[in-house]
Amino acid sequence: MTEGAGKTGGGYVKSYGCQMNVYDSTRIAGLLGEAGYASSDAAETAEVVVLNTCHIREKAADKVFSELGQIRALKERRAAEGRRMIVGVAGCVAQAEGSEILRREAAVDFVVGPQSYHRLHEALDKARTGERSLLIEFETEEKFEGLKRRDAALPKRAVTAFLTVQEGCDKFCAFCVVPYTRGAEVSRNPADIVGEAERLVDAGVRDISLLGQNVNAYRWADGKGAWTLRRLFERLSEISGLHRLRYTTSHPRDMSEDLIAAHRDLPKVMPYLHLPVQSGSDPILRAMNRKHTAREYIELIERIRAARSDIALSSDFIVGFPGESDGDFRDTMTLVREVGFASAFSFMYSKRAGTPGAERDDQVLEAVKKERLHELQDELERQKAAFNRSFIGRELPVLFEKSGRHDGQIVGRTPYLQSVHVDGPQNLIGATAMTAILACGPNSLAGRLVEPVQPHEAAI
Ligand code: SAH
Ligand code: SF4
Ligand code: F3S
Repeated sequence: MTEGAGKTGGGYVKSYGCQMNVYDSTRIAGLLGEAGYASSDAAETAEVVVLNTCHIREKAADKVFSELGQIRALKERRAAEGRRMIVGVAGCVAQAEGSEILRREAAVDFVVGPQSYHRLHEALDKARTGERSLLIEFETEEKFEGLKRRDAALPKRAVTAFLTVQEGCDKFCAFCVVPYTRGAEVSRNPADIVGEAERLVDAGVRDISLLGQNVNAYRWADGKGAWTLRRLFERLSEISGLHRLRYTTSHPRDMSEDLIAAHRDLPKVMPYLHLPVQSGSDPILRAMNRKHTAREYIELIERIRAARSDIALSSDFIVGFPGESDGDFRDTMTLVREVGFASAFSFMYSKRAGTPGAERDDQVLEAVKKERLHELQDELERQKAAFNRSFIGRELPVLFEKSGRHDGQIVGRTPYLQSVHVDGPQNLIGATAMTAILACGPNSLAGRLVEPVQPHEAAI
């Protein structure tokens, strides 16, 4: 703890939205720590509160303003006691509505977009003198450079971690704000990625998920030639204490043959793939600007399954994109039945200002969207339950991550990302052990340890 931390009440970061925001929040917490605000787990006791926001759907963005209302009340109570509170808004709402936030909410001291976190110190310095700041320039490369040697604040004894390797998106799907809030696709230097992965592993991490809005579009060129995600996996596989590698989110168009083959060739690359398709209707896929057909997606899945037959597939779906007819929705249901997903996220289309979808005059009624969402989710839940049930009676290598809610219980994950609860010793946390699967609930499996194995013996 620095001298400053003794005088302050710590820093609290609240995360909304995707995994990249979760990762960014650990970096923001790391920067707050450097500035003397040690990590705090509640807004009520913290001196600095940062909301790391999400703009993807209307509800997500609305949450920010209601949360800020509560924070304002807290800040006023503090001020009445003569104590200071600094409030920051980060993330995609900060990027999209930065000046509006400052205008509407006097309690906010700074707004910092996802490409400007390396300038957080500057915002904190100003806030301490009562000056407000708006930092929303696109400087992704500067951000990666600026944060290079700074580590994220990891929870103690973390076994899994996220690591951003690529940020931004050039795809411009007709419904999506991400290209506007995260900017153009930028990949990170492989040497920095490997360095960060090694530090995570030294700290006890065994399972790393590489993150990017289009992670499989990862590209880097240096004196040693061209780097792809496949090559990055090959290099990261050499880190001996690292047992599992995952990646998210991929776009079907960037699913190259060498990456598909990585699921066959590299044992540390887990048999799990999140590959959003959004819709199973060709006219809707075209209108969404996804740049592939339903058949092309299914053929891609066939090639992936040919490389790794047991791969667990996950996806995102949107129902009620403008112009979606009953027939289009039926095509989505047909695709879902044809592919068979281990898990999935599904959403009602939400109109986002500034995206082409919002301009269309053939918006689908809310009631219709709701009905379609229910039908889709019922089917996806059925598939998930069937997937989980298929493991009962089998043995799987489970990487244990934390203690469970009950005494003597520990919780881990299968290669397919399912949670598993077992009765077992705490010292297995961070280790992989063969586990017999006994039962399954809606969101997790229950198992029994077969024979504890040491981390270095675990193949997956
Ligand atoms: N980069 C990823 C996902 C980004 S956002 C990809 O290419 O698929 C995560 C998910 O949110 C999307 O896959 C989509 O299903 C959903 N989403 C994005 N914009 C949306 C909107 N306007 N309304 C409803 N869902 C949306
Ligand atoms: Fe959004 Fe499409 Fe880019 Fe994914 S690929 S982030 S859905 S624009
Ligand atoms: Fe949300 Fe931004 Fe992620 S809009 S989903 S936090 S990239």
